[in-house]
Amino acid sequence: MEKVEKTIEQIYEEAFKEIKFATDSESIKALSIRYLGRKGIITNFLRNISNLPPEKRPEVGKRVNEVKKSLDKAFKHALKRLETKPSQKDYRIDVSLPGRTIQQGSLHPITQITWQICEILEKIGFDIAEGPEVETDHYNFEALNIPKNHPARDMQDTFYISDNIVLRTHTSSIQVRIMEKLTPPVRVIAPGKVYRCDSDLTHTPMFHQVEGLMVDEGISFGDLKGILTTFIHHMFDEKTTLRFRPSFFPFTEPSAEVDILCVMCRGKGCRVCSHTGWLEVIGAGMVHPAVFENVGYDTTRYTGLAFGMGVERIAMLKYGIDDIRKFFENDSRFLRQF
Ligand code: DAH
Repeated sequence: MEKVEKTIEQIYEEAFKEIKFATDSESIKALSIRYLGRKGIITNFLRNISNLPPEKRPEVGKRVNEVKKSLDKAFKHALKRLETKPSQKDYRIDVSLPGRTIQQGSLHPITQITWQICEILEKIGFDIAEGPEVETDHYNFEALNIPKNHPARDMQDTFYISDNIVLRTHTSSIQVRIMEKLTPPVRVIAPGKVYRCDSDLTHTPMFHQVEGLMVDEGISFGDLKGILTTFIHHMFDEKTTLRFRPSFFPFTEPSAEVDILCVMCRGKGCRVCSHTGWLEVIGAGMVHPAVFENVGYDTTRYTGLAFGMGVERIAMLKYGIDDIRKFFENDSRFLRQF
């Protein structure tokens, strides 16, 4: 008797272990037959109850029926679980499959070029300054010696917010804001967005510039040439040929434009350089005394140099891109290349 009771408990325990370790519904079905089937372990057990002394039979019979019911429930439960859950087979990892790459973002090419420009100029000794994109007529034009009738003020070029407020058309406005705050020596660069009513292959209504300003006693055009030559050689390559061509800006005197030998045709003349062999990259000059007077600097003591460049233009020349709009279309196939 003792032996039989122990055995049913053992069977019960083993059956539960097997259910626990089964990994698919097929093995549960097989287990169910092995234990509860017509010739199953439990069924046989019940049959053999007649071998027990009559007084023990009801008690043991009751227990075996309990076990039977409990196992039946456990099998059904396990079947449900395994049929809704993918079998362990599906979890196996095929190490020969190519891995799933994590898409990684990167800096926009314009940001990269802006940072490169700033890094070179910071090494030369410039600090970084910023100013507002929504600017007053005073800082954007008036204080920079751009008179009321200057073509740059034309409604076609400038986004006017009101009579007196504009979206800055250049970062030169920061020059005035900086000089109002600091006494020389001043050595700053100002990167930022600028806005003009213009849109074609080489112009977008919003683009980026980096402005440079250096004011101290004894600053000369030679300093301007030295700084910009060093800059160009670092930005492009050391062998880049450049020239300073006389030009006009209301806020500098003398004014110059810095051209580099066309990076596409090396000076032979092509579509990119409009068959001139040269590409204009920087506007520059010596700060006009009228600008100094507007900020209260002593024009007999100080001289200064200033320059401004378009970031998109430099990026286009560096990477050989012929349409400025590509930078702002947000096509990741284009942007991913940088
Ligand atoms: N502000 C000019 C422009 O938008 C560029 C420029 C020219 C900046 C000469 C300067 C400068 O500081 O000295 O085209």
